[in-house]
Amino acid sequence: MRVSVIGCGYLGAVHAASMAELGHEVVGIDVDAAKIARLAVGEAPFFEPGLPELLRSAVASGRLTFSTDMADVAGASVHFVAVGTPQLRGSFSADLSYVDAAVEGLLEHVSAGDLIVGKSTVPVGTAERLAARIADSGTGAFLAWNPEFLREGFAVKDTISPDRLVYGVPVDAEAAATAEAMLSEVYAQALAAETPLIVTDYATAELVKVSANAFLATKISFINAMAEIAEVTGADVTQLADAIGLDVRIGRRFLGAGVGFGGGCLPKDIRAFTARAEEIGRGESVAFLKEVDAINLRRRQRVVDLAVDALDREPHGKKVAVLGLAFKPFSDDIRDSPAIDVAVRLRGLGADVVAIDPEAIENSRRMHPQLEFDDDLEAVLSGADLVVLVTEWNEYRHMDPVWAGELVGTRKVIDGRNCLDPKAWRAAGWTYQGLGRP
Ligand code: UDX
Repeated sequence: MRVSVIGCGYLGAVHAASMAELGHEVVGIDVDAAKIARLAVGEAPFFEPGLPELLRSAVASGRLTFSTDMADVAGASVHFVAVGTPQLRGSFSADLSYVDAAVEGLLEHVSAGDLIVGKSTVPVGTAERLAARIADSGTGAFLAWNPEFLREGFAVKDTISPDRLVYGVPVDAEAAATAEAMLSEVYAQALAAETPLIVTDYATAELVKVSANAFLATKISFINAMAEIAEVTGADVTQLADAIGLDVRIGRRFLGAGVGFGGGCLPKDIRAFTARAEEIGRGESVAFLKEVDAINLRRRQRVVDLAVDALDREPHGKKVAVLGLAFKPFSDDIRDSPAIDVAVRLRGLGADVVAIDPEAIENSRRMHPQLEFDDDLEAVLSGADLVVLVTEWNEYRHMDPVWAGELVGTRKVIDGRNCLDPKAWRAAGWTYQGLGRP
């Protein structure tokens, strides 16, 4: 099939490359000329395992091209809208201006029978509004909503072999059948591998995405709330998570207590969900998400408070080695990163923060020039008064406490991801402090 992908950010670039890998002819469109220039020569503009290989082979095969000119979508029959929906400044709502602009731009170039497919995460009701606009345009194009559930670090796998496909299709039966058939041709390979498919209405498709993220965020904040309780009762939240996680109805995944969630999705999506629920008169239904957000943000301050205590309440001029900057491992993304937040607050308290991350230093330096960075772990640990682990990259979680102990000034570690073995660290002479652990 010939497909276009509007927006070549995180979601769009991965989607475009994956669609080409599935054998489709793909054009990726973005307004950012520098990004398009890199993608056009098969270079990934951000860190994502597997993406550079995919881009290089798809660009070399001629199946994947990139352009800044929306007119180049002509000839494609399926057009994916994969632009960002960031949090609006000074508000919890999602900024839909990029989605609206993408659809308006597309309407100038689509042909009758073309399918426009929303992939961006949007407030419920957006698809219905856009469908009305597309119907009014007289182009004969129509709309489906097809949310994605990709995780950074696993984005290629999650796109090519998703764990489910969801299509939100029009009410009209004929249009619905055509939309389903077109999408199923796009995803033929995944469907042949028996990926579960749910065909539904626009509102359900939009809500599947936001409610999935709300559920994941709630699960993390639940265990972090238990960590808060554990901290005053002497219980161990990691053992508690192991024990409740053995109940298959609960499950152990996403019960990792620590400094909490960040990134470009969970925080802004739960906020946009509460804002939208309030707009439609159902604020109380998801009011708990405000608590989920609050618990999550408290954990960042908890790490800072523990650090200040570990520095005998005099952080000024003390060297703090911050391990990790990305919001999670296998990513260079620092959007709403708990690690960055902790580093910036400690710096604000006068500590000499030196931070390291295998992938996210460049992004961090650009956004937070007040911080000091070093890509040599030995140098970062050298003479440190305190080590704070905030992103659980393998190189930090598997660090030898004896080796690290010989480098630092004082053997004190705060394990903001509960990923170190307290016994091994204590045996090597460290004062170990996890979150929600005695
Ligand atoms: C998330 C959803 O998982 C994905 O389905 C959706 O499409 C986009 O948002 P992502 O933001 O890539 O994906 O990261 P995810 O792996 O979900 O982690 C989110 C955050 O939660 C990270 O900061 C991570 O460190 C944190 N987390 C995760 C925890 O604190 N504890 C856990 O147990 C799991």
